[in-house]
Amino acid sequence: MSEIIEVSTDWLALREAEDAGARSRELALEAARRVGPGPIVVHDLGSGTGSMMRWLAPMLPGPQTWVLHDWNPSLTERATDGIAPRDRDGHPVSVRSHSGELAQLRPGDLDGASLVTASALLDVLTSKEVHAIANACIAVGRPVLLSLSVTGEVYLDPRDARDEAFESSFNAHQRRLVNGRRLLGRHGAAIARGIFLRARWNVRPVDTLWRLGHHDPLLLREWFDGWVDAAVEERPDLRAEARAYRELRSAQLRRGELSAVVVHTDLLAWPR
Ligand SMILES: C[S@@+](CC[C@H](N)C(=O)[O-])C[C@H]1O[C@@H](n2cnc3c(N)ncnc32)[C@H](O)[C@@H]1O
Repeated sequence: MSEIIEVSTDWLALREAEDAGARSRELALEAARRVGPGPIVVHDLGSGTGSMMRWLAPMLPGPQTWVLHDWNPSLTERATDGIAPRDRDGHPVSVRSHSGELAQLRPGDLDGASLVTASALLDVLTSKEVHAIANACIAVGRPVLLSLSVTGEVYLDPRDARDEAFESSFNAHQRRLVNGRRLLGRHGAAIARGIFLRARWNVRPVDTLWRLGHHDPLLLREWFDGWVDAAVEERPDLRAEARAYRELRSAQLRRGELSAVVVHTDLLAWPR
């Protein structure tokens, strides 16, 4: 098994409300129509602590069973030890977890699936992993909702001449090699889309936006710091420039003058 990349639970918690506001409800409701009446089984890939389940369960029919797949069992434990979300009829869903690496995902791991989901996942996977999950989904033949893959586009307001250099360096960092795994970064969603289209599936994409601003200064600060840190890790020659850039952006943030749009894409795929 590959060495896992730890995701901070604080970061997942901090972004959960923004993720919930950004994901496409239109695609979620179309997924709900396509799964038909319950009982249903939803497999959520790279589930982390279960943010996708908490958002989507109330839009889907019951009775519902969620199977949370992640290579980090300490995250899925958090999703299963709290209060279960409710389905659209108000009944609690049942939840179980499956620990494993997505590169090894087989159709049999999606046992009984009515719907397969993932959120904030495709950009942190490799080509082999995206092929494994898309091929498993195609073999199972049920709708797939893949939310919130980053596209690499970021729009800071006010603009600054340095924005572009940090954006392109961050995007290069997203494509880095980690323990022998080459991550796809902003190409993840396009590659998944291509695999489904080649299998003659329908794919509906929707742009989904994080709108960060003074309504949630902590998230804006954490996102911006992480974005610049990654850019500097990729290009250490940006370090000196980053100092002045951070000072400017911190001052704007403190005055409530900074906002950022971080573009993502959601995909709904289903067989013809
Ligand atoms: C950015 S987090 C998103 C978590 C969750 N879907 C959410 O929206 O809060 C990506 C998740 O995918 C899991 N993950 C990443 N690569 C994986 C892999 N190759 N196999 C299994 N899980 C993986 C991580 O442990 C993490 O929980």
